[in-house]
Amino acid sequence: MPDTHVDTAIPDMGEAYFDPLLQDQGAGIDGPGGAMHRYAIRPEGHQLTAADFETESWMLKRQPVYTEAEHQRWRLLFENQRKMLPGRACSDFMKGFEALEHLFKDGIPDFEDINQILEPATGWRVVPVPELIPDNVFFWHLENRRFPAGAFIRGGKPKTDRVRKANEGRAPEHIEYSAVEDDLFYLQEPDIFHDIFGHVPMLMDPFFADYIQAYGAGGHRAIEFNRLKNFGAIYWYTVEFGLIEEEGELRIYGAGILSSPDETLFSLYSDSPHRIKMVPERVMRTDYVISDFQDTYFVVDSIEALYRSTAGRDFTPIYKRLPPGFTYATTACLDTDEVVTEGRQVYKFCGGKGKPRAQAHMEKLRAKHGR
Ligand SMILES: [Fe+2]
Repeated sequence: MPDTHVDTAIPDMGEAYFDPLLQDQGAGIDGPGGAMHRYAIRPEGHQLTAADFETESWMLKRQPVYTEAEHQRWRLLFENQRKMLPGRACSDFMKGFEALEHLFKDGIPDFEDINQILEPATGWRVVPVPELIPDNVFFWHLENRRFPAGAFIRGGKPKTDRVRKANEGRAPEHIEYSAVEDDLFYLQEPDIFHDIFGHVPMLMDPFFADYIQAYGAGGHRAIEFNRLKNFGAIYWYTVEFGLIEEEGELRIYGAGILSSPDETLFSLYSDSPHRIKMVPERVMRTDYVISDFQDTYFVVDSIEALYRSTAGRDFTPIYKRLPPGFTYATTACLDTDEVVTEGRQVYKFCGGKGKPRAQAHMEKLRAKHGR
């Protein structure tokens, strides 16, 4: 295991490009429009002051005190997603999950309880942050084996009128799945359920633990060459949306998939997306989807192989030949790809999420695969 607490300085972003869709736009923690302002309007308002943050690291000094309704939303998500895992999540995820499950089943877990299991296993800790944090701070945490996890839980404030109306006056345990699917079961911004349920089990795996630390360490170079989008695609297509071949079958290790019941089915069973063997430069050149299921999933042979294909590797020659943007569309399937399954892209081409044909596509998958 590499040195677990290197304690390097936070890399300076310099002139590197910030993705305004995903990132704090420089407002910082307590500036106007900054994190604290945004966090204060979170569902059920976890009211925080500047004293609750460690300014440099964006870490909260403590987890918020959660309401019973918030614990209940966690339990609803947990019960729902727990059933999806067997035979679908990869064996490394299941191993980590089984070690932690007792902390997950009764409500939002305490990070200190998790760390008591996680730290002896791989030297990692989870730390609470208010929301997505700037890239450079994120890399710095990963490099030091700290996983920043969003402290809030989704679903307190339904965003669309349809969802609001459908749930009016309902207790959390009576909320119907169909009424909340675009709120409770899908979100663009990582919350505590995604970050803990989705990410932490894999951090129990030694190769994966080293892989993410190495990824964080690679952030310095990506910033220096202003290739954060390309570098981010690696994280996106592996840590978040990665598939793995196991015993001749496809399984999931990506947290973005494993914290979403519908994407669990879509990524494994739909004939729409491509599934292509993971090659770092190919991935770095490929655009990705933020607000819907992926059009392409990249497949690794093992977590060890994933680690060896990237960790300790100097991407400088690649950065030098890469353009600043992406080369390939999300739906590209190239002659040079090692294709596992070539998708029909029917979900994509009918318009995706919310479109009648896309909904029918998902209904079919749910009916066939029991959800
Ligand atoms: Fe994530």
